[in-house]
Amino acid sequence: MSDDSRVYIFDTTLRDGEQSPGATMTREEKIRMARQLETLGVDIIEAGFPAASEGDFQSVAAIAETVTKPVVAALCRALVSDIDRGFEAIKNAKRRRIHTFLATSALHMEHKLGKTPEQVLEMAEAAVRHAVGKGVEVQFSAEDASRSDPAFLVAVCDRVIAAGATIINIPDTVGYAQPAEFAELIRHLLGTVKGADKVTFAVHCHNDLGLAVANTLAAVHAGARQAEVTLSGIGERAGNASLEQVVMGLNTRPNYYNLTTGIVTEEIFPSCRRLAGIIGQPIPPYAPIIGRNAFAHESGIHQHGIMKDRRTYEIMTAEHIGRKGAVVVLGKHSGRHALDAKVKELNYTLTDDELKIVFDAVKELADRKQRILDEDIEALILEKVLRRPDHYALKHLSVHCGNVELAPSAVLEMEVEGQSVREYSSGSGPVDAAFNAVCKLVGRKPELEEFHINAITGGTDAQGEVTVRVREGNATSVGRGVHDDVIMASTLAFINALNRLAKKEDRICPQL
Ligand code: KIV
Ligand code: ZN
Repeated sequence: MSDDSRVYIFDTTLRDGEQSPGATMTREEKIRMARQLETLGVDIIEAGFPAASEGDFQSVAAIAETVTKPVVAALCRALVSDIDRGFEAIKNAKRRRIHTFLATSALHMEHKLGKTPEQVLEMAEAAVRHAVGKGVEVQFSAEDASRSDPAFLVAVCDRVIAAGATIINIPDTVGYAQPAEFAELIRHLLGTVKGADKVTFAVHCHNDLGLAVANTLAAVHAGARQAEVTLSGIGERAGNASLEQVVMGLNTRPNYYNLTTGIVTEEIFPSCRRLAGIIGQPIPPYAPIIGRNAFAHESGIHQHGIMKDRRTYEIMTAEHIGRKGAVVVLGKHSGRHALDAKVKELNYTLTDDELKIVFDAVKELADRKQRILDEDIEALILEKVLRRPDHYALKHLSVHCGNVELAPSAVLEMEVEGQSVREYSSGSGPVDAAFNAVCKLVGRKPELEEFHINAITGGTDAQGEVTVRVREGNATSVGRGVHDDVIMASTLAFINALNRLAKKEDRICPQL
């Protein structure tokens, strides 16, 4: 066990997070997120699972060439072919890690792997030896560790440490553990495993019982020194332990934990907001730390206390996690330099041409909206530059609706594979009419599975942000659109989802 007080933050937003429904990202989006994770100060970025598909491989390779400070980890099953592929993907990274895993619970060994415990020991050792042979640091994860026989878990840890693994991860794969019990398991391993003092013990907790953060904190309190987390807790099923909750738990209770991380806390909210923008899933208002209500005080007694001294009802400040509140940033008369400075402050790198596109969009919005906030600028950057449509693009839309006799209808002009085309359609409402017109124009009829609308800021002139999920056969995709006209935002989101659906590829799931 390492005796220092530093907890290493291993971010798996781009791997375990991205595996969750609706969180799929394109390669460019993953690169943008990886840059933000570097600014946030995470120690390790798990960039993906290179053997899963060609797209995953390319994304991991691109991230490996983009970031320089964090270690770039590639997930690999305990197979020579996966490890070779994983190494190939991260070979150009400045700091590299192979993360290989194998299930160790009786249930998984018998029913999933069809292997005996002795075979699992041999496979784990062979995988680690092969990875160590590549000259990179090696992490081994005992999948379903919390439901494994502790004596067998010790035997596995002994074997993989002897084979050269220097990071041993104890996942609570199905979110089954309880905090005190999980802490006890970590203490037991630290006290029993041969060479435990020479390696770092890590934990990776899922949130099926809502205990992922509690289990992670209990484990680091007990001596684990790597916490595996995702931004906003996105991940398989109920998600993973959330980075912001684990980090702010350690940060807000120094007397209890006496542990530190390398996270730049002021980058927490911008990072979660960027993720929400990319995957098109708004941050829930009640989310701890980052939700809209996390620093809102409604009751009179609380407001009174807050006015006298914020510490009466706030255990951390909004500024500490990078929430500046509703800051008015730009107006109708602001110039290019002001926008340039704001774009840099928001941590985006745009070319002159892209800046011009955003500048024109801000001016256009400022004609209709009085106060342009950070959230508006970020939404316009995503919408106008980073989410540029490829196969299909919306040019003009006009709708008729209301409680008059005529059925709601839409007239739409789009660019389909470079050709300008027009269509009319009716529907049960203006959104239905617009979507029907899009379907006629592109000759597809995807099923609309989800539709969410959210106002980006307050005020009746706020920009609307629409997220949709569509399905075509087995493939699903999420699309997002932003506009101060909500029918436009809805249609942009639908077209964005269709663009993304056109590029979907098959992946193998990360199991053995
Ligand atoms: O949940 C899990 O066990 C995992 C492993 C691959 C670490 O994601
Ligand atoms: Zn996991």
